[in-house]
Amino acid sequence: MTRRTIIAPSVLSADFSRLGEEIEAVERAGADWIHLDVMDGHFVPNITFGPAVIKAVRDRTDKVFDCHLMIAPCDPYLAAFADAGCDIITVHAEATQHLDRSLQAIRDLGKRAGVSLNPSTPESVIEYVLDRLDLILLMTVNPGFGGQAFIGPVVEKVSRVKSMIGSRPIDIEVDGGVTPETAPLVSAAGANVLVAGSAVFKGGSEDQYRENIRAIREASDGAVRTAA
Ligand code: DX5
Ligand code: ZN
Repeated sequence: MTRRTIIAPSVLSADFSRLGEEIEAVERAGADWIHLDVMDGHFVPNITFGPAVIKAVRDRTDKVFDCHLMIAPCDPYLAAFADAGCDIITVHAEATQHLDRSLQAIRDLGKRAGVSLNPSTPESVIEYVLDRLDLILLMTVNPGFGGQAFIGPVVEKVSRVKSMIGSRPIDIEVDGGVTPETAPLVSAAGANVLVAGSAVFKGGSEDQYRENIRAIREASDGAVRTAA
């Protein structure tokens, strides 16, 4: 049996003036999760949105809200993102001094706990928190902006993380530069959740989003079938 890849469009590339409609459009176009990139201008060199905006669009879909926090510190804001309706809350290992504590805090809020690693961060930093984790988000760009080029050496990290988690029910998500060309590489290496911003929202219409999602899904599922 082959697993189906979860496609999580990043609304970073959506039209923010119509964020609610964009989320509805991308859901109708085949999105599985909605990826929400929260940036603070401190941990990353860009600022996006916070819990108030997420709360405002929460009722536009029943899809999983996959919240990627690129903020430091993160601990003081976890409850606000849980209250806003995020289902998965992912923190960067580089953004918290006490990763174990941050992950436990997310689970205590009743949410799925994720950890993200920048391209240059070795996977060994999560070795001792695997039992606190629901998702590992491996960055294939340096976080901060959409539309950057995929960093190839991270594919090997995906394979290593896949071996490291063994039979644990942990999602492996990849974020940054995912296109129909790069999706097969990470899917074959073991990623089962693909975030894509510019590759989904290019074209600016629902029909185009549907075609963009289909192309990524087809490329990814083909690689999973070949690897199986
Ligand atoms: C980057 C964000 C990504 C970004 C991906 O810091 O975490 O989610 O939106 O954008 P693309 O798919 O355009 O690389
Ligand atoms: Zn992201």
